[in-house]
Parts: sequence; C-alpha cells; structure tokens
Amino acid sequence: MLNPYLPYPVRIDEIITETVDKNLKTFRFVFLNPEDEQKFAYQAGQFAELSVTGKGEIPIGIASSPTEKGFVMFTVNKVGLVSSYLHAMKAGDIMGLRGPLGNWYPWERLKGKNVVIIGGGFAFTTLRSSIVYMLDPANRKDFKDIHVIYGARSPGMLLYRKELAAWEERDDINVHITVDASDDPDWKYNVGFVPTITEQKAPPGNADTYAIVCGPPIMIKFTQPVLDKLNYGHDHIIMSLEMRMKCGIGICGRCNIGKEFVCKDGPVFTLAQLNGMPREY
Ligand SMILES: Cc1cc2nc3c(=O)[nH]c(=O)nc-3n(C[C@H](O)[C@H](O)[C@H](O)COP(=O)(O)OP(=O)(O)OC[C@H]3O[C@@H](n4cnc5c(N)ncnc54)[C@H](O)[C@@H]3O)c2cc1C
Ligand code: FES
Repeated sequence: MLNPYLPYPVRIDEIITETVDKNLKTFRFVFLNPEDEQKFAYQAGQFAELSVTGKGEIPIGIASSPTEKGFVMFTVNKVGLVSSYLHAMKAGDIMGLRGPLGNWYPWERLKGKNVVIIGGGFAFTTLRSSIVYMLDPANRKDFKDIHVIYGARSPGMLLYRKELAAWEERDDINVHITVDASDDPDWKYNVGFVPTITEQKAPPGNADTYAIVCGPPIMIKFTQPVLDKLNYGHDHIIMSLEMRMKCGIGICGRCNIGKEFVCKDGPVFTLAQLNGMPREY
C-alpha cells in the first residue's frame, strides 16, 4: 500500500510574481518521475500539501487545470513560516507535493448548467483551475453560460492578469473584473466590491444555475445576501473552506467541523451543507 504521507518529488520549473506587493507568487512544478504525474490525477477544486524539507507542509489549492499537462501549478500568499521559505526558493529547486487531497467542485452535477464563478483576492486559485477546465474545447459544450466575477483591492493585486484579459475577449464566457478602487486612468473594467458587481452582473438563480463562491470571509458575508436576493437556492451555492490542517487525509482531527473533516469531506461544500454544520469555520 502507498504511504499517504509520502510526497512526490517535484522541481520548481518557473516562478511568476503575480502581484505588485510581491506577496503572491505562482509556482509551476514538474514531477521528477514522469509516472508520478499520472498518480497525481486531480480534479478542479482539489488541494495538495506543498512540502519543504525541514520546514513543513502547507495545504494549497491546485491552480492548474487537469486539462493542462506536464506541470502542476499553485499560487501562494506569503504569510508565515513555510510560505515565506517557499517564496525564497528558486527555479530548479526540489521539493515535495502530497496529494491530490479533498473533494472537488461537483462537475457531474454542473454538467448542462449555467456556472457563475465569484471570487475575491487570492482565493481565485481553484477558480482559475475551474475556468480553464470548463473552457477546454473538450469540456466547453458540457456547460451552458459561464459567468466570472472576480475582484481584488487594486489592479496590481489581480492574479493571472494576462489570462483574465484573454478571457475578457472571448464570447463563450462572461467576465466581470473589478477592483475596490483604481487611480489608473487606463483601467477599463469595473470599480466596486464583488457583492455589488455580483448584484449588477450575475444572472438570476434558478434550477439550472449554480454559483461557486471563493474569497475572503468579508466578501462571502456580503455576497450571500446578494445571491439570496437573486434567488439562488443554498444547494446551488458552492463554497470552498480554508481551515487549518495537518494530515490532509482525515486522520489527525485537526480540521473537523462537527463530524465533517474539511480535508477529506471538503473543502468543497454547498451552503445548504454548511448551514447544517456548527459555525466553526
Ligand atoms: C484547502 C486549502 C486551500 C488553500 N489554498 C491556498 C492557496 O491556494 N493559496 C494560499 O496562499 N493559501 C492557501 N491556503 C492557506 C494556506 O494553507 C496557509 O496560508 C498556509 O498554511 C500558511 O502556512 P505558513 O507556514 O506560511 O504560515 P504559518 O507560519 O503557519 O502561519 C502564519 C499566519 O497564517 C495564518 N494561517 C495559517 N494557516 C492558515 C489557513 N489555513 N487559513 C488562514 N490562515 C492561516 C496563521 O494563523 C498565521 O497568522 C489554503 C488552505 C487550505 C486549507
Ligand atoms: S487535517 Fe488531519 S483530519 Fe483534516
């Protein structure tokens, strides 16, 4: 039996500084053993533990899409011990990757439906994975209208800016980029908080429309009443939680909410499921 704690060795192939404050970097990894890439088969919405020898492991959402082959990608905010160490690493350095872990967005249920992606700040990582997955030529026909509402504090704090601009140009996805404020005279997208832009741009809720919401607690707090107003059922609002974790495989008991282990039963839950759980997240 495979040891679930054993990470796959990976090499940092490329590091991209995403934001002007340089606190968010995207790491592209390649597997040292090509067969490990097959073993790491994942779905959009899952996460993995990035492990740095002698420093520890951190759970990070997978930002690449399963349709992108030859690499796997993560975007990491520099907040503490392991993430700071990772930020100081260089292309060519070797580290570990354990996973894929957790559940994923319910792709089977979303087939044939409208999907509204609502994201804020650096929680856009698994949403990027989801958008790339849905837009893949092999998958696009499986979904009806796709809307994306994504906001950051300022233009320089948006992730994946080139891709956002490219999606903006396409006619098979409706992209609404927004910032809280901008002093850039050339800024051509929205200015306003994500809940406000959601109210203006999101389609009304119905049996055929699902929202995937991922962002800071304040954004979620003010977006939920907007979705209620737009008539989204709580079983049609899908969220991803970022609890403190250790093992990532439902053994250590570090991440539970009531009887649910966020690492194993989640991190993806519908709002209807979360309503039935203790408010510990
Ligand atoms: C399923 C999942 C997906 C995640 N995806 C991403 C991602 O795509 N990109 C990303 O940058 N981060 C993500 N996180 C958060 C990330 O795991 C933490 O920021 C990271 O573990 C911090 O480790 P550290 O050693 O650098 O910081 P530490 O030294 O452990 O802590 C530094 C500070 O960060 C806070 N912190 C630590 N862990 C968390 C956490 N889980 N949530 C909120 N605050 C925390 C601590 O309270 C402390 O204030 C995700 C977490 C989970 C559970
Ligand atoms: S992190 Fe150990 S049970 Fe979830």
